[in-house]
Amino acid sequence: MRIVLGVSGGIAAYKAVEVCRRLVDSGHHVVPVMTDAARHFVGAATLSALASEPVPDGLWQGGIPHTRLGQEADLVLVAPATADLLARYAAGMADDLLTATLLATRAPVIVCPAMHTEMWEHPSVIDNLATLRRRGVQVVDPGSGRLAGGDVGPGRMAEPNEIITAVAARLAGEAAPAGGTAPRASAEPAGGAELPRERDLSGRTVVVSAGGTREAIDPVRVITNRSSGKQGHAVAEAARDRGARVVLVTASMLPAPAGVEVVTVESAAEMERAMGEAAAGAQVVVMAAAVADFRPKAPAEAKIHETPDLVLEPTPDILAALVSRRAPGQVLVGFAAETEDAVARAWRKLERKGVDLLVVNDVSAPGSGFDHDTNEVSILESGGGTTVVPLRSKRAVADAILDRVVARLRGESA
Ligand code: PMT
Repeated sequence: MRIVLGVSGGIAAYKAVEVCRRLVDSGHHVVPVMTDAARHFVGAATLSALASEPVPDGLWQGGIPHTRLGQEADLVLVAPATADLLARYAAGMADDLLTATLLATRAPVIVCPAMHTEMWEHPSVIDNLATLRRRGVQVVDPGSGRLAGGDVGPGRMAEPNEIITAVAARLAGEAAPAGGTAPRASAEPAGGAELPRERDLSGRTVVVSAGGTREAIDPVRVITNRSSGKQGHAVAEAARDRGARVVLVTASMLPAPAGVEVVTVESAAEMERAMGEAAAGAQVVVMAAAVADFRPKAPAEAKIHETPDLVLEPTPDILAALVSRRAPGQVLVGFAAETEDAVARAWRKLERKGVDLLVVNDVSAPGSGFDHDTNEVSILESGGGTTVVPLRSKRAVADAILDRVVARLRGESA
């Protein structure tokens, strides 16, 4: 296969040398494309010597390489992808050979971000990655570790092994994980053989609820909330990409994700029914929906023309019903949307609801909760244990939740 290996200017460029060698050893035709900044970190001669073709000089070389390279590629891999490169790619710029190639290609694109923690967690980088993911770009998320200058934290580019695995899976015809999150090696599954992260739910049924329910006041008006359904849909897509059969019970207006069984509902009562039916044979149930807590006791059958005296009643507690009917071994995940004392309140909620995991988000925090493409959560576990997920794409949050779900299915506690 013909692979364009894009290298942008970060210290992790040294790992691109190993990636290049491994791709060539696997029989691929590798064309390295370097940004000017990358040349400060690794010599073009090094990559040229290892690759199948010399590093092209830039946009102004003959033979219109700015479109040819992208058009001829079977896959474009960018490792490392700096914050600057991601910003230019997300903005649709084509001011050097690498960004021009990215714009000209119809081949799958995999990017491997690498940067300092502060940059990795900056809202502009998060937004740019969310944009690229939405366009189908696959992102091999960085890990945590030693960074340039001796700092330690998230932002360290994925190791060559992980990158090569992602490339091999993609070239073998596997779909990009929706939202493009990293296919990471997982811990040992029950059967013994190591599965890549995206298949570690294969053979399982995962039921997910999403969106805000709408409770009728009359045929025209409803009581609802601010949930878009993005977080629940991201969980459904992540579970699908990890091999699960997924049933998504959604009150959201978002398009139905491919490869997922979708049940569209409107009210809490409809969601309760659909969740009850779907959960019966499931190994995992995730209640990411924002169920309206109350509804009009007697919705009017015709449009109301005067200001009504609304009498409200509580909606059914769907999660409580699911907990009371849970099958042996089923992992139940609840969410908690809070605006103050989020984690303390969530611990009490976890206890009260009797779920295995409770994902708490402070919906008043910037970039977090309702309708954002990003979220920041703590995953609390019955029996103790917390996983803090800093501000990330909702897809990355979904994968972090599923990592804990998989651990629970394997009988591991936090
Ligand atoms: O949809 P997005 O725009 O992406 O936003 C995501 C989100 C903020 C909606 C999501 O991350 C989230 O927090 N979902 C749960 C919101 C909520 O209803 O929280 P709660 O603390 O009120 O409810 C606790 C749990 O009980 C939830 O799992 C909820 O689904 C469940 N519940 C609540 C009421 C009810 N009648 N029945 C329920 O099952």
